[in-house]
Amino acid sequence: MDTLKAMERFSDHPEAKDKILKLVMSNVELPDIEFEQMEPGLRNNVFIHILFDNKKDNPTGSDAALIKYLPGAFVPLHLHRGYEMVLVLQGEYIENGEINTPGSLIIRAPGTTHSMRSNTGCVILAMRDIPVKQLT
Ligand SMILES: [Fe+2]
Repeated sequence: MDTLKAMERFSDHPEAKDKILKLVMSNVELPDIEFEQMEPGLRNNVFIHILFDNKKDNPTGSDAALIKYLPGAFVPLHLHRGYEMVLVLQGEYIENGEINTPGSLIIRAPGTTHSMRSNTGCVILAMRDIPVKQLT
């Protein structure tokens, strides 16, 4: 399924729009917490610290995590079936080619797609109300 067809399938939120707010923040210090590799083979050099995960009992459940991109990390295109909210905490987070620095609060609406990378590394706080659909 190509991206356009996938988006048409989830056109039940026609009013939904992406939002990006630039909050005034500098790099956030993190406590000493452990990260594990996230979806190896799909996400390259991406590590996760799960905050909560309701997908284990419910395939349409929500989740939230701190996600660390090592320098050069890349995540291929996926489709949002629900909302996703990302707050950049450290470094430089690039979504669909746009650079986001600490304080960038990104709300992705249902039916939108994105790919992500970081050239120099970053940490984000991410929350999704429904799991995404991988497109590539
Ligand atoms: Fe996403």
